[in-house]
Amino acid sequence: WAVYAPYVVAINALKKKRGAVILAHNYMTPDIYHGVADYVGDSLQLAIKATEVEEDVIVQCGVHFMAETSKILNPQKIVLMPDMEAGCSLASSITAEGVEQMRAKYPGAPVVTYVNTTADVKAASDICCTSSNAAQIVAAQDSDTVIMTPDQYLAQNVAKQVPGKKIVWWEGSCIVHEQYTAQDLIEFREWNPGTRIIAHPECPPDVVAEADYSGSTSGIISYVENEKPEKAMLVTECSMASNISDALPEVDFVGPCNMCPFMKKITLEKVLYSLHTMTTPVEVDKAVAEKARLAVQRMIDLSK
Ligand code: 13P
Ligand code: SF4
Repeated sequence: WAVYAPYVVAINALKKKRGAVILAHNYMTPDIYHGVADYVGDSLQLAIKATEVEEDVIVQCGVHFMAETSKILNPQKIVLMPDMEAGCSLASSITAEGVEQMRAKYPGAPVVTYVNTTADVKAASDICCTSSNAAQIVAAQDSDTVIMTPDQYLAQNVAKQVPGKKIVWWEGSCIVHEQYTAQDLIEFREWNPGTRIIAHPECPPDVVAEADYSGSTSGIISYVENEKPEKAMLVTECSMASNISDALPEVDFVGPCNMCPFMKKITLEKVLYSLHTMTTPVEVDKAVAEKARLAVQRMIDLSK
């Protein structure tokens, strides 16, 4: 903390001066998560929070699609991204043309698009979803066939939860969660009996099947806080365990984790620079933003 403290103090002072609020995803490193964030959460919670904040400036500590979602919901606010290179393998796996290809292949089927996408892709979709509401959103669609983009594994996991629907999907994946295998989990359980395994639904379905619980990043945190297992393996991004372990000394966080190189582009130094220079403001074309807002707002309304 001695290294981080001067940044934390400077960011918190400058934040007030700029009338800014920091929204941080659960995958941010502990210095950001505990030191400077005003609100932390999963993608759905951050999208909802973006509609509620009163400050004129939002600094998005997360990846680019999250900042775009905040801007789509708050076109009048300044939304700053501390590093514009913080992308996402899911967001870069599909374009609006890809959505149109899926529509042509499955005429009349609604398109449910994961928020991990660009504004163009959201604008081409009927409704968005996040990992915490995907099954609920799919179940609410008035169609037997539902197109899910772009995460093939989230789609396959939802298909198990909503067996009444035929779900078809785009072939995107998360580079962090696709690395886990069911065999890893089976072997880990053998070596560490009694470990509670908790997986994000961006993992392949055979991995999720080996887990004791699967949910969004905030769902994972709530599960561990409520259950307080003796040993927990979080099958997700590495900062998750780091962010909650101090408050849960009774839980032994075990097992390997995977780092998201995009999330890790956001550092305290870049947050300070961003507030100092008011860079980089995220812009979304007005017509695209209006259409994308409909898809995001429909999701928020259905999730209430
Ligand atoms: P959550 O919505 O569960 O926070 O997931 C976002 C994400 O990018 C996970 O990889
Ligand atoms: Fe994208 Fe995966 Fe990183 Fe989440 S963890 S931002 S889905 S690459």
